[in-house]
Amino acid sequence: MLTGQKGVGCQNHGLGQHSKEIIAEYWDKRSESYAGSTDGHKDEELEVWKRCLETFTADLSLHKALDVGTGPGFLSVVLNDMGMDVTGLDMSRCMLNQAKKASCNQRANLTFCQGDAEALPFQSSSFDLVVSRHLLWTLPNPEMALTEWVRILQPGGRILAFDGNHFDPAASKRLVRWIGVHLSRFSHDRNPVPFRKFYKPIEEYLPLYAASGPDQYLAIFEAAGLSEVTMDRLNDVNRFYKENKNTISRLANADMVFLVKGEKSDRI
Ligand SMILES: C[S@@+](CC[C@H](N)C(=O)[O-])C[C@H]1O[C@@H](n2cnc3c(N)ncnc32)[C@H](O)[C@@H]1O
Repeated sequence: MLTGQKGVGCQNHGLGQHSKEIIAEYWDKRSESYAGSTDGHKDEELEVWKRCLETFTADLSLHKALDVGTGPGFLSVVLNDMGMDVTGLDMSRCMLNQAKKASCNQRANLTFCQGDAEALPFQSSSFDLVVSRHLLWTLPNPEMALTEWVRILQPGGRILAFDGNHFDPAASKRLVRWIGVHLSRFSHDRNPVPFRKFYKPIEEYLPLYAASGPDQYLAIFEAAGLSEVTMDRLNDVNRFYKENKNTISRLANADMVFLVKGEKSDRI
C-alpha cells in the first residue's frame, strides 16, 4: 500500500526500508507489462547485448555470474547463453515469475531467487561476475549495494552496471519525457501502472534517481574500493534502440544507456 512516508526525523534506514516496499509493489504490478514490452525484436536485442557482454568480459575466464535486479531475466538469459552458471536475483516475486516464464523454466545452470540487492543472501567470494541493468537508479542505498556486490565477488572478479539518465532534471530532458509520456497513452506498450504515484513520494530518497550521467555512478564504484573503474557509452546498444524503438517510446525513455565497470582487486 502507498502511504505517506516522509516523516520528519525518520532514520535514513527506515526510509530506505519503506521505499523498498513501495518499489517492490510497483515492480510486482509492472512485471507483466514490462516483460511484454519488447517492440517485437527480442532476438536482435538479445544478440546486441550478447555482443556487448562478450566485449566487456572477453579478457576474463568467468563461470559464475549474478544478475542483480534481473527483472524478467534478460541479462541472465544472455549470460547463460554465453555458457555461464547464472543466478538472477530480484526483490519482486512477480518479476521472478516473469523471468522463469521467459526462460521456459528449463535451462541448465540458470536459477532465479528473491532477495535484496543491498543485502545479498550469498557467501563472500562466491561469484566472478556481477551485472545489473537499470537497477542502481532505484536503490535507496546504492553504496551499500556496491559494498555487497564487492563482498560476494572473487578477487579479480568484475562488476558491470548498465544504467541511464532516466530522470535527468535538465529542462530539455524533462520536456521530451513529458511529451513522450503523454503520447505513450496511445501506444500499445504503454505503462499501465501509474509510475509517478509510486516514485514521486520516494524519489528524493533514491540518490541516483536524478543522475544526469555516469559521474555519480563512477564515484560510488571508486568509493567501494573497486579498481580499473571506467565507463563506456555503449554506442552499439544505443544505436540499436535508436533504430528499433518506436518514436513514442524513444521520447518517453529519452535516455542513453551507459556502462560503469570496475574490478575487485586482490587488496580489497
Ligand atoms: C527497471 S527494472 C530492470 C529489470 C532488468 N534488469 C532489465 O534490465 O530488464 C528494475 C528491477 O529491479 C528490481 N529491484 C528494485 N529494487 C531492488 C532491490 N533492492 N533488490 C533487488 N531487486 C530490486 C525491480 O523489482 C525490477 O525488477
